Amino acid sequence: MKKTICLLPGDFCGPEIMEQGVAVLKAVAAKFNHEFVFETALIGGAAIDATGGPLPEATIEACRKADAVFLAAVGGPKWDNLDPSIRPEKGLLGIRKALGLFANLRPAMLLPELAGACLLRPDVAARGLDLIVVRELTGDIYFGEPRGIETRDGQRVGFNTMIYSEEEVRRIAKVAFEAARLRRKKVCSVEKSNVLETSRLWKSVVEETHKDYPDIELSHMYVDNAAMQLVRDPSQFDVIVTGNIFGDILSDEASVITGSLGMLPSASLGASGPGLFEPIHGSAPDIAGQDKVNPLATILSAAMLLRMAFGLETEAAAVEKAVRAVLADGYRTGDIMEDGKTLVGCKEMGRLVIERL
Ligand code: IPM
Ligand code: MG
Repeated sequence: MKKTICLLPGDFCGPEIMEQGVAVLKAVAAKFNHEFVFETALIGGAAIDATGGPLPEATIEACRKADAVFLAAVGGPKWDNLDPSIRPEKGLLGIRKALGLFANLRPAMLLPELAGACLLRPDVAARGLDLIVVRELTGDIYFGEPRGIETRDGQRVGFNTMIYSEEEVRRIAKVAFEAARLRRKKVCSVEKSNVLETSRLWKSVVEETHKDYPDIELSHMYVDNAAMQLVRDPSQFDVIVTGNIFGDILSDEASVITGSLGMLPSASLGASGPGLFEPIHGSAPDIAGQDKVNPLATILSAAMLLRMAFGLETEAAAVEKAVRAVLADGYRTGDIMEDGKTLVGCKEMGRLVIERL
């Protein structure tokens, strides 16, 4: 199979983890006889430094032409004091919007090999944690208009608009129901319909859409309760479907309680065109450039890319198996280090995975 992959290394630790992700993809290509053509483009702070803006038109073009987009991480303190319209994060929001990537899939799971890193009480962790947050990614308060800061009655006010159309809700609900079909067949829709009109519409459209998925069990939960239930008993969740802002918050919570933020991949998909695959963690400015960062979330994002963008299930499973073998053999980067394990750097971690492929 011949495919083009557009690489967006981004900032700080981005290029380091990208190097390991690409090395794994090259090893997969060699082993399974595929041809992956890589093209690299600028995004985030790197793009600001080179071109003055976080998302050059050439980057959007390169992404559109590719079969998949592989992103590492953007942002960092270096660009914190810029005008908000050219912050590195704008590059990320911009590419999501430009490629129409409305569905963000963020799995959170507790690998048995890393059970000791879990932040929950052992009896809670023992019940297991294997869920996926399906987050709507191109609507909601992130993009709603009007927005702004202005002076009213002599004082400044800030405002944003939380807004969803029924079509936006329907398409993300479908993604969630389809995802549940491949898992434990449970969807929990998270909103705040006791207070917000947007959420009342959300809930009723999810219920309508559910009529086409009678095999899936649907439940509803207010977002405050969901935040609490994730800590109290995450084993109750299979697929969580929610809007952009609630999903931003809950996906960080779901992933950090596993104790291994540096392990979790994500996929962002649209109705057509290339998907974007990236680790859920940020650019780790504090340890960037020291060969310390954990490349496994990026490597696991490469596995998601192989599976979801190219339909290469065997290859994806091989990468995931190699990652678990490295962990089972006791190798750890600093973020997941425990007593009695072997501390390795970013490059060595990548090499160990490839060795086991
Ligand atoms: C994420 C991040 C982004 C978001 C930021 C960097 C704009 O937090 O991918 O979850 O809020 O979507
Ligand atoms: Mg976030």
